[in-house]
Amino acid sequence: MPSSSNNNRVLSGMRPTGALHLGHYHGVLKNWLKLQHEYQCYFFVADWHALTTHYDDLSNLENSVWDMVIDWLAVGVNPGAATIFIQSQVPEHAELHLLLSMITPLSWLERVPSYKDQQEKLKERDLANYGFLGYPVLQSADILAYKAGHVPVGEDQVAHVELTREIARRFNYIYGREVDFAEKAEAAMKKMGKKNAKLYKELRNKFQEKGDEGALSTAQALLDSQQNITVGDKERLFGFLEGSSRIILPEPEALLTKASKMPGLDGQKMSKSYNNTIALRDNPDDIAKKLRTMPTDPARVRKTDPGTPEKCPVWKLHQVYSDDKTLEWVQQSCTSASIGCLDCKAPVIDAVLVELAPIRERAKEYEEDRSLVRNIINEGNEKAREVAKETLAEVRQVMNLSYR
Ligand code: TRP
Ligand code: SF4
Repeated sequence: MPSSSNNNRVLSGMRPTGALHLGHYHGVLKNWLKLQHEYQCYFFVADWHALTTHYDDLSNLENSVWDMVIDWLAVGVNPGAATIFIQSQVPEHAELHLLLSMITPLSWLERVPSYKDQQEKLKERDLANYGFLGYPVLQSADILAYKAGHVPVGEDQVAHVELTREIARRFNYIYGREVDFAEKAEAAMKKMGKKNAKLYKELRNKFQEKGDEGALSTAQALLDSQQNITVGDKERLFGFLEGSSRIILPEPEALLTKASKMPGLDGQKMSKSYNNTIALRDNPDDIAKKLRTMPTDPARVRKTDPGTPEKCPVWKLHQVYSDDKTLEWVQQSCTSASIGCLDCKAPVIDAVLVELAPIRERAKEYEEDRSLVRNIINEGNEKAREVAKETLAEVRQVMNLSYR
């Protein structure tokens, strides 16, 4: 993998869709909770991305932003471990978006699958605008501004990370080329000291002559550990391992998030557009009611009619929430019609309520004192901005834009 990427850095964003539901929790957020202890994480609200499809009605945008952040905090995204911020508060994203847009061929954007898919799916919206076409370039800027090594996303976003890699490669190719590249790389090597320079050369040869990937990663680790060479020299040496230009913007990798198995109240995937969700902060009575009234196997008209769990949305919920013993009980009692559907739902209702109680409790703190949320976000914005600023300074420099 071409690097100088901050391999330890994870970045992901979510469009502000308002209150999050169990599908977000089981699909995305639990993964974030794990990642925040393993990597240096940046999680942000992609509010500019929301504009690309909802530009004509922004009356709810602000509330959606705060609601989403509160949900993140309530489930346990920890501002001490991860940097949480808002895209539009870090204008460097916009600057990088503009600069990258100059080198992004239109044909690359037109062939991104989500471009046509979304236009078909959201027929009621006019998406024939410049911002919508540029959606994945903005996303590339989000990622590259932090030189993130890993981007946790769902299947539908993998093409966007792939495009980011292509844009980064093109950027490095255009702006990382130097007339005297090889000489500069040789000079940079010397600055690592004799021993390291020799090791670097050997590893580079092994990779270039024999395609030894292990040698490549060892060399990358060697470079990562160098304290005494400049950023520019490091980028030259990373680039020199594999080719003939500096690597200014490293290519990120998609960290594929497994599709959420969280079924909605009707057995389809849980999603706001299917109107089958349980929101993380729904009140307990409403949740119980939603579950009590959700459909079951239509063959069970009367309590004495046996059913087939595989044809029942409640069974899918049991698979998320119940242990083996309960699962067996459901199978046995449903097919023999020895319990009613309400009996069967009881353990699921309990489990969902138990899961959400502490989340609701934590959310309450933030709902009651919005300044807590604002402070966390302000701090995150600032931290994010510092990193993005550094990248942009470098980008401007290699593009000959640092005059003033
Ligand atoms: N497009 C992503 C989505 O709809 C959100 C997003 C914006 C994002 N910028 C990003 C995700 C950068 C990962 C990295 O889900
Ligand atoms: Fe579904 Fe349970 Fe009713 Fe069977 S008993 S139909 S699994 S709710």
